[in-house]
Amino acid sequence: MGWPSVTGMRVLVTGAAGFIGSHIADLLVAKGHDVRCVDALLPQAHGGGLPAWSRRHAPVVGDVRDASLLDRLLDGVDAVCHQAAMVGHGTDPTDAPEYASHNDHGTAVLLAAMHRAGVARLVLASSMVVYGEGRYRCGRHGVVRPLPRSAADLAAQRYDPTCPGCGRALVPQPVPEDAPADPRSTYAASKLAQEHLAAAWARQTGGGGWALRYHNVYGPRMPRDTPYAGVASIFRSALAAGQTPRVYEDGRQLRDFVHVTDVARANLLALTAAAPEGMVPVNVCSGEPHTVGELATALAAAMGGPQPLVVGGARATDVRHVTADPRRAAERLGYTARVGFVEGVTAFATDPLRESAAVTV
Ligand SMILES: NC(=O)c1ccc[n+]([C@@H]2O[C@H](COP(=O)([O-])OP(=O)(O)OC[C@H]3O[C@@H](n4cnc5c(N)ncnc54)[C@H](O)[C@@H]3O)[C@@H](O)[C@H]2O)c1
Ligand SMILES: [Zn+2]
Repeated sequence: MGWPSVTGMRVLVTGAAGFIGSHIADLLVAKGHDVRCVDALLPQAHGGGLPAWSRRHAPVVGDVRDASLLDRLLDGVDAVCHQAAMVGHGTDPTDAPEYASHNDHGTAVLLAAMHRAGVARLVLASSMVVYGEGRYRCGRHGVVRPLPRSAADLAAQRYDPTCPGCGRALVPQPVPEDAPADPRSTYAASKLAQEHLAAAWARQTGGGGWALRYHNVYGPRMPRDTPYAGVASIFRSALAAGQTPRVYEDGRQLRDFVHVTDVARANLLALTAAAPEGMVPVNVCSGEPHTVGELATALAAAMGGPQPLVVGGARATDVRHVTADPRRAAERLGYTARVGFVEGVTAFATDPLRESAAVTV
């Protein structure tokens, strides 16, 4: 069976009241598709109930772990765009059962329901966190996997990982999708589990789709400062409160900051692309690496706030550099980012954010 026509698809968007899911729902409708939306409004993510911008899609407030709800929602659906997840790195292992329940178990319940309903197409929101550290090259040993940074290294402000073979400094490289997975946190482990579960579903059913490994997403509707928020919103919240943004390590850690409208477009392209065999992982990124320090500096300048303070230290789950190889997304999905760093970060200074979460854990 081929893919349905590229307009007029009916797509179930899970996590549709969330930051990224709400942009996807808007874009799908703007492009003539029919969306069915579901979101559990997790208290970790939502403070004021359903965000105003989600109401136009009349999302069902419900949980992807609810199999009978899914049986109703999947009726007549052409594809699923699975964004629902508990996000962020959290605080300590107390939240591990919740990550596993929403992310691993939720995806398993969804895949079983898709099988019952005969829905064979999936776009899964995965993450760059499945890689752990990015890719590194040693002048002598080529591509190597650095050892995790030791507490002693971090205490001595030796932030850059070194070659496990010769101890030399390594050069960070863009990470391709075939890099080995090395999840470093409960959240990362749960995102990788989602990919594995989806791959097993695809093999068993002949279904397929794309595991979109988003890099650091930012833009309007981003959740405000919580342990589950991304670094851009943490800096933005500090600056809005007149505080100095605090940058860990030496501020030179590289990331790929990708605008949420680009991420939504990658989802649209993935939903309407030719069917792949099985689940294919694809980086969704800007292709333009920047340091965390540059992000803080650019945002401080755009908001007229105090310059960032580099505070050293590093959290146990932090990795040093992760930047993305954008080629597969271009080749397979026709996706390249459109929003540049300066443009996106300048706009982010005044973009509306989502209300504070009801609970901070
Ligand atoms: N924001 C990023 O930088 C980033 C990076 C990589 C991957 N991702 C992935 O993108 C997806 C969307 O993340 P986001 O940044 O929009 O976060 P978000 O918290 O704004 O959105 C996630 C939504 O999922 C909902 N949800 C969680 N568990 C649910 C369940 N069991 N049933 C129904 N709804 C549930 C939440 O209420 C929330 O509205 C997630 O899968 C996340 O892992 C995000
Ligand atoms: Zn070496």
